[in-house]
Amino acid sequence: MKALILSGGKGTRLRPITHTSAKQLVPVANKPILFFAIEAIRDAGIRDIGIIVGDTAAEIEAAVGDGSAFGVKTTYIRQDEPLGLAHAVKIAEDFLRGDTFVMYLGDNFIKDGIGPLVHEFQAERPNSQILLARVPNPSSFGVAEIVGGKVVGLEEKPAQPKSDYALVGVYMFDPTIFEAVNAIRPSPRGELEITDAIQWLIDQGKDVRSHVIKGWWKDTGKLEDMLEANRVALLSFDRHVAGSVDPTSRVIGEVVVEEGATVVNSELRGPLIIGAGTEIRDSYVGPFTSVSRGCAIIGSEIEFSIVLENSRIEHLGHRVEGSLIGRNARLVQGETRPRAFRFMVGDNSEIQVPG
Ligand code: G1P
Repeated sequence: MKALILSGGKGTRLRPITHTSAKQLVPVANKPILFFAIEAIRDAGIRDIGIIVGDTAAEIEAAVGDGSAFGVKTTYIRQDEPLGLAHAVKIAEDFLRGDTFVMYLGDNFIKDGIGPLVHEFQAERPNSQILLARVPNPSSFGVAEIVGGKVVGLEEKPAQPKSDYALVGVYMFDPTIFEAVNAIRPSPRGELEITDAIQWLIDQGKDVRSHVIKGWWKDTGKLEDMLEANRVALLSFDRHVAGSVDPTSRVIGEVVVEEGATVVNSELRGPLIIGAGTEIRDSYVGPFTSVSRGCAIIGSEIEFSIVLENSRIEHLGHRVEGSLIGRNARLVQGETRPRAFRFMVGDNSEIQVPG
């Protein structure tokens, strides 16, 4: 069995972060979301992984390489335009070469992995196995219509969803999927939808099984979802303080301070992670916060947030929360008069000030 990870797309809902970085490389708990997908596939016993890449190909390839760091073998497949998930399957046909495979959307985060689901598919050998999860906002997903426990129809982002069962971005297929992706036509949004391809399988009487996942799942296209994925990833952390924490600081709960990080006169309330080389001074870092490498948080308070590499937060008068701060950002108190907000903000950024 092989795997196909989709790691193209523009990540428009995570701008401005995705102006300069692939959405699949935005970290949760200081690890790119894509790495969780690779590890889940490896842990399910699959070693041969094709990765569909688009405009951000160079960055994805630099981060993942030949896969040896993960104990897998990667093959990169270029999708020149984002023509849909079923189109990605089409262009991967040579790589998949008649094998069964699991397709994994690189921005999906499934906390409990996919091992038992892959094993079930391998044992039962249906034509396809799809995963479903109940969601409060089904119109944002592919939605399954279920009659008598069986999926009878699938619709992509319907205005009037027939259930609250969303299609999770992990699918298992045998080679009949190639007949399907070659038979369907582009959707109104101009894409070849995998949802339509699976509907085609159902219409042809193929064996499409569904499995409702009970564990935690998120499609991390948006800020709130990134913060939620970060929260859930940090929940499984154990306390590990390798960096230096001075005696005037207090460390409470599941806190990871990586080697080379320094914490001075601060309060850390886990779960949280502080990356290597980061300095926390005269500050409070609260639950569900991931601070990457090389950052500085000085005289400030932050919680429920993600801070990427080499950013600086200094003497802000209010607590930062629910935030995603990009690389090399500076959020500091100015010293010049008049006292005013001074911004140099990237395109599509959002800033909220306390009322
Ligand atoms: C895609 C699929 C959708 C599925 C979702 C899961 O949507 O088209 O059916 O529910 O992934 O993450 P997209 O994120 O491409 O809009």
